[in-house]
Amino acid sequence: MRLFVAINLAYDVRQSVWRIGSELRDCGYPIKWVRPESVHLTLKFLGEVPEGGVEQVRASIRTAAAGESPFELLLSGLGAFPNPRRPRVVWIGCHSGPSVARIQQKLESELEHAGFPREQRSFHPHITLGRVRRDARPASLSGLADQLGRLNFEASSVVESVDLMRSELSRSGAHYTRLHAEILGNS
Ligand code: 2AM
Repeated sequence: MRLFVAINLAYDVRQSVWRIGSELRDCGYPIKWVRPESVHLTLKFLGEVPEGGVEQVRASIRTAAAGESPFELLLSGLGAFPNPRRPRVVWIGCHSGPSVARIQQKLESELEHAGFPREQRSFHPHITLGRVRRDARPASLSGLADQLGRLNFEASSVVESVDLMRSELSRSGAHYTRLHAEILGNS
């Protein structure tokens, strides 16, 4: 099954993320928007993992989360990868003091020992709002960069667990389910 490790956000934060996106959605850009129930911060994408490998992944998450306490995640500002003038992914930025980066680094190490290649790109914690469609013409995205710079978004969410997520792909988009929540502050 297709797995990833994520931080999920409180319900009201996901709703406000959806609301800030409404101005962008109303513009009709060729972007596939993430539904509010699916909004999350990815810590590590694992890809296909055989059923028998799930327990090892859970153990790696447990080790990476050990000694960590719940923390506040601050969401602020909108942007795009690789950059707002050539957008592929539209996001909201995340900040949390050192907690997110520390957990992400520990996860990378633990999961590398478990056989998952280390991510080569540097970690930029973000909440993906939408993904530009592959066939989008650059002209159809004009105006987006200015809008991203103009929109103001600030929110915070208390993070109480690091979650193992399953992603099921279908024609209507990805559907995510939480397989396991590793509660912070338990060890
Ligand atoms: P993103 O939000 O930064 O785009 C579940 O699919 C999550 O895993 C997505 O939110 C995405 O993170 C990340 N993801 C999906 N496919 C990926 C891939 N091939 N490589 C790295 N991360 C991926």
